[in-house]
Amino acid sequence: MVEFSLTEEQRSLQDLARKFAKTEMLPVAAACDREGRFPEDVYRKAWELGLMNLNVPTEFGGSGLSVFDQCLIVEELARACGGMTTSIIANCLALEPILLGGSDEQKKRTLPAFCSSYHLASFCLTEPGGGSDAAALQTRCRRDGDAYVLDGEKCFITNGPHASLYTVFATADPALRHKAISAFFVPRDAEGITPGKDEDKMGHRASSTSTVRFERVRVPVTDRLGAEGDGFALAMQTLDHTRTPIGALATGIAQAALDYAAEYATKRRSFGKPIGEHQAIQIKLANMAQDLHAARLLTWQSAWWIDQGNRGSLESSIAKCYASDAAMRVADDAIQIFGGYGYMKDYPVEKLLRDAKLTQIYEGSNEIQRIVIARELLSRYA
Ligand code: CAA
Repeated sequence: MVEFSLTEEQRSLQDLARKFAKTEMLPVAAACDREGRFPEDVYRKAWELGLMNLNVPTEFGGSGLSVFDQCLIVEELARACGGMTTSIIANCLALEPILLGGSDEQKKRTLPAFCSSYHLASFCLTEPGGGSDAAALQTRCRRDGDAYVLDGEKCFITNGPHASLYTVFATADPALRHKAISAFFVPRDAEGITPGKDEDKMGHRASSTSTVRFERVRVPVTDRLGAEGDGFALAMQTLDHTRTPIGALATGIAQAALDYAAEYATKRRSFGKPIGEHQAIQIKLANMAQDLHAARLLTWQSAWWIDQGNRGSLESSIAKCYASDAAMRVADDAIQIFGGYGYMKDYPVEKLLRDAKLTQIYEGSNEIQRIVIARELLSRYA
């Protein structure tokens, strides 16, 4: 049976996130965007309300939400600010390798700290030499007695300078590509870690993004996730779970763009009537609504599929790719409906386009999503 109505509990999660987005995020979103400010007070409040660490099971003090329920929250937050939402959900990305690959002992050692007080974590996969070809990463892990020594540099790391824990992917031998990659968790206070300065970004300016350098960082063998060489599959499984919420984030941006544009179309007048009465504008609004609904449905379907315990590579790539492309189209049309005002920073829609752009790039560019989709598809016909 397919069921589209939300339970009472899901509606209250949605309401909680919507209210938080409206009262805590939206009032400061434009200023944070303008100043490139990382609003840590907002993130702390999100943590207090249980809107962070959404994927961490309740036994470790987290919210223990399904991917579907995570998506409901993420969409509401992103209606107010895509950048803040990225920083709020970055713990889910960074902690997912521990959830998927960590032993019970490792989970007990790492996860409760994030739920008993406010801490951020960062997922460190991408490197300056390349992001799409993840198996080509160059950060080295050299075994030395009962530890590994990590050397290398990661880039585009969300919350990099603010994190107290990093999940890091490193290779014992770059020539062996994915077969030699292992995953580790590394506390910020380990000697030899240097986060870079905040990048000056086009959008998501309330989120922090930096390089993180690892120089002769000793990591106990007990802090390796899974077996040696399991790291690449762990990174891919993590992204299978986290790309769907990025679809929800893009859907939230698209919803905000449609809301602003539709409201404006009822107020702004031209040729003696509200512009919403012109068919040219109606057709745009109708296309925007179709894109938005399709993005949300694909995201919901992917989340549901993963929550049933399925692999979800195909579904999450479809959801992330479609929703982020849709967010770009919808934000672009919203600017067009606002006309000259839409191009001005005094109005909220140009930010939506800048924020939507990153959803086509991070957690795997949409070109990579299409590769994943095509490979999954073709393997079913082979
Ligand atoms: N689950 C489990 N295992 C998987 C898998 C999955 N989803 N996908 C691949 N694998 C396994 C394969 O089975 C294979 O294993 P075997 O050798 O044992 O058969 C191995 O991994 C290698 O797979 P491929 O041959 O498919 O690997 P590839 O080198 O061709 O690369 C890729 C595949 C899909 C292109 C991958 O490199 C990729 O996803 N790249 C994009 C990386 C990415 O999304 N980065 C974003 C980082 S997060 C971020 O954006 C930062 C932020 O803070 C927001």
